[in-house]
Amino acid sequence: MTYDDIRKSFLNYFESKGHKIVPSASLIPNDPTLLFTVAGMVPWKGILQGTEPAFAPRVADVQKCIRAGGKHNDLEDVGFDGRHHTFFEMLGNWSFGDYFKEGAIEMSWELLTRVFGLDPNRIVVTTHYSDEEATAIWKKITGKDAIRLGDKDNWWSAGETGPCGPCTEMHYDMGDDLPGGMPGSADEDGGRWVEIWNDVFMQYDRDANGNLTPLPKQNVDTGAGLERFASIMQGVTDNYDTDLFVNLKRAVSDVTGVTETPENIASFKVITDHLRSVGFAIADGVIPSNTDRGYVIRRILRRAMRHGQILGHKGALLSKLYPALITEMGAAYPELAREEKRVVEILQNEENSFADMLQNGMKLLESELPKLNNGILPGDVAFKLFDTYGFPLDLTQMILRDKNIDVDVAGFEKAMTEQKERSRANTKGTRIFWESQTDLADTDDTAKYAPMDMESHVLSILRNGEFVQTAGAGDEVEVALDKTVFYGTQGGQVGDSGELKRDNETVMNITEAARVDNIVIHKGVLTSDLSVGDTVAPVINASIRQQTARAHTATHLLQAALRSVLNEDVEQRGSKVSPDSVRFDFRFGRAMTAEEKQAVEDLINKWIAADMPVEHDEMSMEAAVKKGAMALFGEKYGDTVKVITAGDVSCELCGGTHVYHTGEIIKARINKEKSISSGIRRITMSVGTLAE
Ligand code: ALA
Repeated sequence: MTYDDIRKSFLNYFESKGHKIVPSASLIPNDPTLLFTVAGMVPWKGILQGTEPAFAPRVADVQKCIRAGGKHNDLEDVGFDGRHHTFFEMLGNWSFGDYFKEGAIEMSWELLTRVFGLDPNRIVVTTHYSDEEATAIWKKITGKDAIRLGDKDNWWSAGETGPCGPCTEMHYDMGDDLPGGMPGSADEDGGRWVEIWNDVFMQYDRDANGNLTPLPKQNVDTGAGLERFASIMQGVTDNYDTDLFVNLKRAVSDVTGVTETPENIASFKVITDHLRSVGFAIADGVIPSNTDRGYVIRRILRRAMRHGQILGHKGALLSKLYPALITEMGAAYPELAREEKRVVEILQNEENSFADMLQNGMKLLESELPKLNNGILPGDVAFKLFDTYGFPLDLTQMILRDKNIDVDVAGFEKAMTEQKERSRANTKGTRIFWESQTDLADTDDTAKYAPMDMESHVLSILRNGEFVQTAGAGDEVEVALDKTVFYGTQGGQVGDSGELKRDNETVMNITEAARVDNIVIHKGVLTSDLSVGDTVAPVINASIRQQTARAHTATHLLQAALRSVLNEDVEQRGSKVSPDSVRFDFRFGRAMTAEEKQAVEDLINKWIAADMPVEHDEMSMEAAVKKGAMALFGEKYGDTVKVITAGDVSCELCGGTHVYHTGEIIKARINKEKSISSGIRRITMSVGTLAE
């Protein structure tokens, strides 16, 4: 049975049992607690938790998954055995408050033994030690005594919090000629017994303190790795010997000109695996970058290139292999071909920019190796490889693993911290607390945009690139304060302008506030002398602040309107919010029609006319997720997040400044919609008096 046949048989079986068949969801989860979709249940978390209604009582699908870079992480193991993947497909069936343990176990057993024809004697099952019910059902249906195991093996959750419960696993005997013990034994990973399916009984919701609350409905979440199924159905013991991987490995041979041998097989496995995770992730909209999931994908791509180098291949690799991925998987996943041009372009850019760094970094690394005396690469060398040659730490570790050399990770981190401190020292180590508009907001309308006077102190003054104790009238300076109400440019929103006052007299006109880490830097020209230590009051230009606030709230409305009108997974890619004007970039495959632009503009103006309240809240990340707040791709969020909610149309995590009623925006007008790169569109919009 080929991959295509297995997918079909699985879905046909569950369709015949009344399940609604749905396509795979994106690898980018709508869930800020996860970097990627790590399991088939991720898209259904809300339903399992009871916060979203179920669209059908029974559902089945084949879901794309990536397990790399987060809690569920298989990256480091790929290449060393025949079972690990960063990308895999998960076959799954769900009951949303419909059948429970008995139904799930019955169907799993029927599918495995009757549809797929597996020998019942080669299957053992495990249950959670607390789960008498599942254990008894297995006995009744199959006569088998389940192996009872603990939380590590038989309890499942997708994240720290959320729906979870005991599970029962089915393991298959690959043959007594293979090493390895039974599930739960010390050598269970030896290779003989392979977990083929997991039925999770979602009974509880776990909160941040680890407390379990029974869910309103009892649900079933099952997951079976397609790659393992394929190896069993095709009678091979290594997933990488199944039809799909044999073909992909052949493509690697064609591109590199190297034949697979027992010595280089690890590189073939790594490259074919990484081609899938990187190719699928970029097709779904991930862009390699230096943060979050973009960085995970960049790291995986760089590891693949390193393995290309081991095979003697130079330069672009995955961009050349991507067409083979389409040949193998394009029928099941049409997005691969649809996004081909964009994916190949991104891969080429990424590979071209790393190719030389990889060669040069390897030279540096090799020149360092003879100097090592204790088999440990010093942290500062690893840091130089990172900083100058773009070697992620795990890439350096992977390269040295074969040579049995460790990296001084603590030393690497120290070098990283020192570098951060050096850049911070450029602002003389000052530390400023930016206090948000939210904290300072008064109920009185005008005061909201001209926050109360604040007493702060001058910490440092920078003039012509040098720190000075005192500067005089006419000097162009950058000033850091111990406290400020100014919003420093960040998150796409331009910073405040205004004045510094001393004893109610203006001493500085501030043209822009910038932000470096925790420090707000007030840039402008002095109208009087100013010294370090002076007591001053930072005063914002309230009307500019208000213009920026209405542009920012309008940006959220724009995103909501785009989602509603284009009826697609429109995803923000970047934005610039200035007084009364907005630039918004988003992922969308084609130009918008004139009607669509009009509909978006009309919808925003309708929301403005409705004068909906805009709530500014601070809450835990967990509470924000519960509330359904939309998080920005690639952004980093702390434990406490700010959430901006406009009526019932928009709810986003956002640290920017906003209006308090949508009516304050006055009006919105879309000026332009154009392409800025493949698959990315840009809208420019005016609001407020500018739009009028
Ligand atoms: N969600 C379960 C798993 O991934 C089925 O194993």
